[in-house]
Amino acid sequence: MWCPVKAVPILGALAICASLVCHATGDETATGASAPTVIRFVSWKPDYPRAWDEAIRIFTERHPHLRIEREIAPHSSTAYHDLLTQKLKNRDPSVDVFFMDVIWVPEFAAAGWARPLNDRFTEASQEAFLPSTLEVGRYHGHLYGVPSRIDAGLLYYRVDLLRKYGFEPPGTWNELVHQATTILDGERAATPTLRGYSAQFKQYEGLVCNMLEFIGSHGGILIDEDRGAARLSDERTLAAIEFVRARLLGPLASRALLTYQEPESLAAFARGNAVFHRNWPYAWEIANNPDRSSIAGRVGAAPLPGSDGIPGVATLGGWLLGISSLSRHADEAWEFISFLTGHDMQRFFAREAGIAPSRTVLYADPELLTANPQWRSQAAVLHSATPRPRSPVYPALSHIMQRFFSRALAYPGLDLEPEARRAEREMNRLLDLTRSEAP
Ligand code: GLC
Repeated sequence: MWCPVKAVPILGALAICASLVCHATGDETATGASAPTVIRFVSWKPDYPRAWDEAIRIFTERHPHLRIEREIAPHSSTAYHDLLTQKLKNRDPSVDVFFMDVIWVPEFAAAGWARPLNDRFTEASQEAFLPSTLEVGRYHGHLYGVPSRIDAGLLYYRVDLLRKYGFEPPGTWNELVHQATTILDGERAATPTLRGYSAQFKQYEGLVCNMLEFIGSHGGILIDEDRGAARLSDERTLAAIEFVRARLLGPLASRALLTYQEPESLAAFARGNAVFHRNWPYAWEIANNPDRSSIAGRVGAAPLPGSDGIPGVATLGGWLLGISSLSRHADEAWEFISFLTGHDMQRFFAREAGIAPSRTVLYADPELLTANPQWRSQAAVLHSATPRPRSPVYPALSHIMQRFFSRALAYPGLDLEPEARRAEREMNRLLDLTRSEAP
């Protein structure tokens, strides 16, 4: 163990270090009082920091024998993944609890980083959760995470502007383009900063989520999982990419979108600078919060559009809580996870931060439905969202897709088909390596 005391004689230093270890493990102290056990929780940067501070305060109040030490990683799923997996690869024993994006479970399970939770997360308690959120936590018959929230892509829109021009929320992408163009033409003089669309097109995981929705709603898929083959060069996939770069980016949306993740794209919408905005359920609360949005009360949410007879597609997102295989405090870590994913805290996060809960019963909770009226119509979208491909090498597959999509959108003149074939070949090589590893 590294000891921070350089100048003291070695025995004194050992005594100080021993007392630090003692403190960190919840043993008896010199005074006889039991020091709390420290649970190290590696988390992403939350959209609602105050709700998280409050949750941890309540937990500590109710569990005085435990202390939560949070390490806050970046907001982005990709950056958080890099930080967390670096610790897990280094076999850092100080990590106890972490979030897993719904796409990471096969990787974390295959690498032995996440503990199987079947003994603790009983079948009876699983029944309270939405089936899709449990499914993403399973790998080879074991469960590795407890669902803490569900996400699905939604289309937010300016109710006032659509109403002013006599539009209903668009059912197809072509309708969205038509509506946004009409509104921009009419509003240009009054609001020169207004754009038609705001979403996440930076090179990171969110880009794959957005593109899956465009591709799915044009009839394409990313990977044919039965055959283990990437499908980026299919005609429909290429048509979807062409739609985004030729009809959305540039004509309707600022090219700055190529640098936007969720917070920047939501900020543009909340400042009143976009007619339409694609985001996850939590955006409702922020866009309608007068302290954080200048368009509060003028926001609607609808399913994402489809195209010519093909229904819209929402990417399934969300986060599970897992316990590190190396944690020395698995029981205490489980207490913390049970608290965060329990009925009361799921309700608390839904109410305070607009997070869509993973527990089924909360979708019929009258108070939550009043605060989140969009859930009445959106429940179907949330519960039938399309998962991303499942593979222990998903992060590497995603990197290849991110590079391809990002280049395709950034260079409007790029010949898409050869680029798509190149990316497919790289993905297929990875898929071949893991063919026998089907979940
Ligand atoms: C949200 C989703 C997660 C997704 C990420 C992409 O956090 O819950 O599944 O990977 O956004 O930005």
